[in-house]
Amino acid sequence: MTTIEQLKPQLEALREDILNAIALSKTRPVLYDVKVKYFGKSGPLTALMKETGKLSSDLKPLWGQLVNSLMQEVQNNYAQKEEQIKQIEIEELMSAQELDVTLSGVKPPMGTYHPLTIVTQQIVAILSRLGYSLRLGPIIESDFYNFEALNIAENHPAREMQDTFFVGPKHVLRTHTSPIQIHSLEKESLPLKVMGTGGVFRCDSDISHLPHFHQIEGLYVAEQVSMADLKGTIRFFVKEFFAKDLKIRFRPSYFPFTEPSAEVDCQCPICQGKGCSLCKQTGWIEIGGCGLVNPKVLESVHVDSKRWQGFAFGFGIERMAMIKYHIGDIRLLPENDLRFLKQFS
Ligand code: DAH
Repeated sequence: MTTIEQLKPQLEALREDILNAIALSKTRPVLYDVKVKYFGKSGPLTALMKETGKLSSDLKPLWGQLVNSLMQEVQNNYAQKEEQIKQIEIEELMSAQELDVTLSGVKPPMGTYHPLTIVTQQIVAILSRLGYSLRLGPIIESDFYNFEALNIAENHPAREMQDTFFVGPKHVLRTHTSPIQIHSLEKESLPLKVMGTGGVFRCDSDISHLPHFHQIEGLYVAEQVSMADLKGTIRFFVKEFFAKDLKIRFRPSYFPFTEPSAEVDCQCPICQGKGCSLCKQTGWIEIGGCGLVNPKVLESVHVDSKRWQGFAFGFGIERMAMIKYHIGDIRLLPENDLRFLKQFS
């Protein structure tokens, strides 16, 4: 009969082999091979267990215990090693992805103000230095505010000047910002110095007209107001807006809400009056309309036109942007093509 002492060296040798193999494993696939080689059904551990048959019945349980505790030991060792390898793998992965905080950052692309916003802000800033307060108004206006109160009676040919979008029998998309003047005259006390701005709408579209465009206008009402005051205001505005001492001239014109009325030209800011493609060789550029407030407008909102006088002026914002930035086609403005807009950053 075989004794346990005879079998023990085999057990010891196997223990050493397995622990060595586990210790030498550096990756999970290699470690897994150890498991397959030693722990499997046809592996040496199972074979050792089978040696029980060679022992007397009183030694069998003792041998069983010895093999089982070896099994337990190498399995624990295996599990520890597996955990260690996993940890190392995580650390390696993390150090490979390490953040280099000294690298310079990537700048996120920055948006820019739209040229119309830039021009509006510039005009508002200049006029507020002259004491004008900003007012806004509704985009849908009643016939009264858009036309009637501004002395554009029904069937008046002046309505033809402004191809109107009607949204109801008595309501329109405002065709100009002048109705803001009426809201202010109705609500505010005199004397009054306000500017109004926003989108306006006309049924019109070509290389220099858009169905939706923007205006800004000023209104000054006080007890003594003259054409000279108006001219001084426009002169100051042009000088500040174009950052050049450009001449201005008034051409007699007609607006129902002003009397007398004038169209304002300024010396071409590109050629300073010498003649170029922008001013079509005339040296002058038309920038807006103006005039003394027609007493009928004041009366329509119950302002005593014997006591109060006023002047008003209005500019197209697209037009001002086109002149200032030399933009050849008005349609570039609403298109939102980034290649165009980026030039204003
Ligand atoms: N409302 C005019 C238009 O849209 C522009 C204008 C002209 C406004 C003269 C004014 C002004 O305030 O005095 O054509």
